[in-house]
Amino acid sequence: MKKSIAVLPGDGIGPEVIEQAVNVLNKIAEKFHHVFTLKYGLIGATAIDKTGSPLPDETLKLCQSADAILFGAIGDSRYDLDPKAKIRPEQGLLKLRQSLKLFTNLRPVKIYKDLINISPLKKERLVNVDLIIVRELTGGIYFGKPRLRYNKGNTAVDTSIYSKDEITRVAKVAFEMALTRRGKVTSVDKANVLETSRLWRETVTEISRKYPSIELNHLFVDNAAMQIIKNPSQFDVILTENMFGDILTDEASVLVGSLGMLPSASIGSGVALYEPIHGSYPKAAGKNIANPIAAILSVEMMLKYSFHLSKEWVSICNAVTDTLNEGWRTRDIATILTEKKNILGTKEMGEVILSNCK
Ligand code: IPM
Ligand code: MG
Repeated sequence: MKKSIAVLPGDGIGPEVIEQAVNVLNKIAEKFHHVFTLKYGLIGATAIDKTGSPLPDETLKLCQSADAILFGAIGDSRYDLDPKAKIRPEQGLLKLRQSLKLFTNLRPVKIYKDLINISPLKKERLVNVDLIIVRELTGGIYFGKPRLRYNKGNTAVDTSIYSKDEITRVAKVAFEMALTRRGKVTSVDKANVLETSRLWRETVTEISRKYPSIELNHLFVDNAAMQIIKNPSQFDVILTENMFGDILTDEASVLVGSLGMLPSASIGSGVALYEPIHGSYPKAAGKNIANPIAAILSVEMMLKYSFHLSKEWVSICNAVTDTLNEGWRTRDIATILTEKKNILGTKEMGEVILSNCK
């Protein structure tokens, strides 16, 4: 198979974890006789520093012409401390999602038995946890207009807006996903308060009639936030809107024990983007301590969802499981009981996983 992949390392720990993910991608290409051509592009604070824009046109073109995108992380503390900054790194990612119409974000949450002791939850609550969050990604309050200040800057407005079409297309992804899993969709909204949520619930219920084998239930987002911690194994597919999904996916990552373990896929009708769900973690940048597993598992998702290469993605999945089983840990997934010699840096963890790709 010949594929062209746009690689956007981005900010903070992005470049370090992406380097390891790229090594895995190259190893898979070599082992299974594929040609993956990698083309690098700038995004985020790194791109602002070099070009003045968080998403230079060149990067957008590169992504539009690629078969898949591998993305690292975005964000820089210089901007977090300056709420008045007009140009911000995050705008790069948001514009990319919008331009490529990446309307669905898939975030699987899978428990690794070897890591069960790093989760803050009791072991018995984690048994059988295997869920995926399907988050709407190009609508809602993230993109709604107006978004402005008035009253001399002392009053601010953001707008949450959803159309039936936007809800329909992401809901279909969730139901199709449930058909390949345990057949359950939990739709999360705030229909007791928000009009967008009432439209959401109405539309999802309508779509569900086309999927009679799927069990659908609805939860208000506040209750969902509680249930994810209280009884996470009840969930199979969680379907929700953009901002609720942003919040609930970070929450759900706590089940696994570290954000450093979770990959994601952003898909639309064309090219898809794969990225670890952790951010740029500026404090760890350049220190060789970040966990490359989420980035490596993002490559696994790429091979699965964009290229449908099953032997290849299973190889990565097994390599990660074996590596954890052998006791290797990065700092974020180590415990006080982990032997010092088993705590690896980003690069070394990448190398062990690479050697376990069989
Ligand atoms: C995410 C991130 C982004 C979001 C930020 C970086 C814009 O938190 O992918 O979850 O809010 O969507
Ligand atoms: Mg987020």
